Amino acid sequence: MNAELSETSNILKAHPASALGGRVRAPGDKSMSHRALILGAMATGVTEIEGLLEGDDILATARAVAAFGAGVKRLGSSHWRITGLGEFRTPDEVIDCGNAGTGVRLLMGAAAGFDLQAVFDGDVSLRKRPMTRVTRPLTAMGARFDWLQREGRLPVRLTGGGLSGATYRQTVASAQVKSALLLAGLNATGKTIVEEPERSRDHTERMLRAFGAEVGIEPMADGWRIILVGGQKLSGATVAVPGDPSSAAFPLAAGLIVPGSEVTVEGVMLNPLRTGLFETWREMGADLTISNRRHAGGEEVGDVTARHSALRGVVVPEDRAASMIDEYPILAATAAFAQGRTVMRGIGEMRVKESDRIALMARGLAACGVAVEEEPDGLIVTGGPVRGGAVIDTAHDHRIAMSHLILGLAASEPVSVRDPEMIATSFPGFVDLMRTLGAEVEGEDRA
Ligand code: S3P
Repeated sequence: MNAELSETSNILKAHPASALGGRVRAPGDKSMSHRALILGAMATGVTEIEGLLEGDDILATARAVAAFGAGVKRLGSSHWRITGLGEFRTPDEVIDCGNAGTGVRLLMGAAAGFDLQAVFDGDVSLRKRPMTRVTRPLTAMGARFDWLQREGRLPVRLTGGGLSGATYRQTVASAQVKSALLLAGLNATGKTIVEEPERSRDHTERMLRAFGAEVGIEPMADGWRIILVGGQKLSGATVAVPGDPSSAAFPLAAGLIVPGSEVTVEGVMLNPLRTGLFETWREMGADLTISNRRHAGGEEVGDVTARHSALRGVVVPEDRAASMIDEYPILAATAAFAQGRTVMRGIGEMRVKESDRIALMARGLAACGVAVEEEPDGLIVTGGPVRGGAVIDTAHDHRIAMSHLILGLAASEPVSVRDPEMIATSFPGFVDLMRTLGAEVEGEDRA
């Protein structure tokens, strides 16, 4: 989607379900899919990607790397070939990243290392999101950013090239910022060092190694240091993208909260920097089992089964936030069915995602009759019988839409969501997949 979001708003309605059951596959991991396309385009030679997420966010990144000069070919379902030139070239068109914060921030970093000019833009949601967290350190490395409308917000013109490595200490662990700087650092002189207080997802570090680069990762007294020496060349590689744990979370959540259910999601990536939600659910008493553990695409993968469970509220450790930052909306929805309070703090970053997710979850849960307290950087949910029976404003945010639809499956009355089209950014086929598990979701699945 480009700057104007669809005017023809659709509604999906989730009806209270009787037991759900079955085995499904989650779509490819979104974080790895962006990285596979971008690294493939920066590398020299052919990269073959299996399991690529074919969601709108990723299709925008595929178009972007083609505009930067890479050969991009879809060989079959989720099977893509990228032919990299070893460099990005000045594109003829605006790089429109749609709804994708990860796409635009990683692409800005990758492009900043090359001698080119490019204008980056996105949809109305992406235009509201802060970009200086990436552009400020990239500017310190020597890139130039000219804001075309509003300081710190898209659209922006990048002039890249001539970078020098730098050391950057992040106050909040962000994999997007870390990744942007490492990708820029590949084509900078000297070392690029990123320090983070907690470890954020490490897919960029892992994938850089798979493409032939050396990356150092060192523990520090108060965090982690990632070190990359500039001037390294990437060579095309083969990437198998496993299932996205952030997407698997939705059918698994339904399995936990709908009485009598047993839901298995196969091939879920189990990178420990992504599984904070599973750990939290277990602490809440969830019957969650993992079978068939194996390795795929440089990651541990397994089949995850969720059975209906009597959940109890917990205090989520704040230092777990980085490993489950996208999962708090669905955690909040499941916490509505737990006995007692679930306390989620240290999650201020949620306010600058595809929407202000703290505010929208607080509003949506309250509309469904759930006791919820909103804090500047936290959310507290007290579980109990969930009435439902509301129409939820999703602010075009895919995870807000999916979280409320799942909640509706276990509430007393149906829950409807407005503007669910954005589900296609991360989870195309979500509604059909939920229907195969036995869920009754009314409305047209345009995702
Ligand atoms: C992502 C990192 C996270 C996450 C986003 C994907 C990534 O953002 O919320 O959906 O692929 O690097 P931050 O790095 O800003 O926390």
